[in-house]
Amino acid sequence: MQSDAPSNPPRHVAIVMDGNGRWATSRGLPRPAGHQAGVETVRRVVEAAPRLGIETLTLYAFSSDNWRRPTAEVAALMALLRRFVRAETGRLAQAGARVTMLGRRDRLPAGLAAEIAAAEQATASGTKLHLRVALDYSARDAILDAARRAAALPQLTREAFSRLLSGGDHAAEPVPDVDLLIRTGGEQRLSDFLLWECAYAELLFVPCLWPDFSAGGLADAVAWYAARERRFGGVGAASAASPAPAVAAVPSAA
Ligand code: FPP
Repeated sequence: MQSDAPSNPPRHVAIVMDGNGRWATSRGLPRPAGHQAGVETVRRVVEAAPRLGIETLTLYAFSSDNWRRPTAEVAALMALLRRFVRAETGRLAQAGARVTMLGRRDRLPAGLAAEIAAAEQATASGTKLHLRVALDYSARDAILDAARRAAALPQLTREAFSRLLSGGDHAAEPVPDVDLLIRTGGEQRLSDFLLWECAYAELLFVPCLWPDFSAGGLADAVAWYAARERRFGGVGAASAASPAPAVAAVPSAA
């Protein structure tokens, strides 16, 4: 497989796929047509991710607050997701992707929940990309749920809590923190997505509507990330070498 990855790609990229509704409305189409077009973008991005050095890709497909949308739009989205999972599982398994879902499963249509469980099983041995789909997902609910389960642990560390948050038990392989969060559609908010995992994520908000986003857009985002200096609260290479400014350099009030 040809690699287009920079030397320090983001290991974990998370995406808020926003703008489907506006994409459809601006074309005089019903909103679900935007979600349908969004599925094509999902295919492009999932295919491009491993080439760019991305190991984990988390897509926000449906938030727990999205149940407030019109019934017909929710039903159309659930049907689309079911079709996607059914149609793509074989291809994803062949490409070496491992699919897992995060979020509540008990409120999903039974057919979709079953299709997801089958996809998780069929792709369990994939090592090239971990594709996580957030469905009926709320970061605050996920944190509460992990906190309840954490109470049973003899010792609680950040790492153990992260494992609980990513759905596994305390012995599971932890999902790395998000390095790069991309939100399409021009809004600049997190909308209850991966609030713990994004503690030090680089945030990239792009105006492009999700159906118009491309593999090239993802490559640009990865290149933007690779040029960022991540300090994690410390000092950067340049700042570490230069002394702190003298207090006298601050203009006096006198
Ligand atoms: C937000 O756009 C998008 C969603 C709530 C759904 C995202 C779902 C998909 C892209 C399709 C299926 C996903 C997978 C993983 C196969 P919006 O409707 O809020 O857009 P707007 O802000 O323009 O109204």
